[in-house]
Amino acid sequence: MSFSLPELKYAYNALEPNIDEATMKIHHTKHHQAYVDNLNKAVEGTEFAGWSIERIIRELDKIPEKIRQAVRNNGGGHYNHTLFWEIMGPDGQGKPKGKLAEDIEAAFGGFEAFQEALETAGKTQFGSGWAWLTVKDGKLAVEKTPNQDSPLTHGAVPILGVDVWEHAYYLKYQNRRPDYLKSWWKTVNWDKVSQLYEKALKG
Ligand SMILES: [Fe+2]
Repeated sequence: MSFSLPELKYAYNALEPNIDEATMKIHHTKHHQAYVDNLNKAVEGTEFAGWSIERIIRELDKIPEKIRQAVRNNGGGHYNHTLFWEIMGPDGQGKPKGKLAEDIEAAFGGFEAFQEALETAGKTQFGSGWAWLTVKDGKLAVEKTPNQDSPLTHGAVPILGVDVWEHAYYLKYQNRRPDYLKSWWKTVNWDKVSQLYEKALKG
């Protein structure tokens, strides 16, 4: 068994004008594909080729040292991007609803305060990385990770993540990461984030 690039459920231009078509196409077909290819190369002929990507990321400490860094970078890249494509969509609904909305309100003191916390995490991630909304022990939190590290490795389940690698925004926004983060909210598929939240709460 080997890992493969998941198909996008929307067109490359579906997130315009917030994320441009060229960025989406290169990001998915070149960057994500490269993570998949390099992950497959790293685990070829090992038992880890048969593990789920979630298990690999959760149990990175069980990967032999010789291939661990390659698996951490490329497995993380595969896992993180798969989530990223899923939680975006063409009809961004602007705000969460129901239990997720209530719990964000309770955890952060309001949706705007949560947005600010996530944007701050994204802006202050030095160099490449991600900003996340995670669930751990039933609690919501905002965090950031460098490179392709995932909160899953330390036991938190990411239910929303924004890629702040330059490859995610440079063609349209150049060095203006804060502008990209502001626009990115309009791409979030909150129904999907709610589904992931319910799943994470069930454990
Ligand atoms: Fe990326």
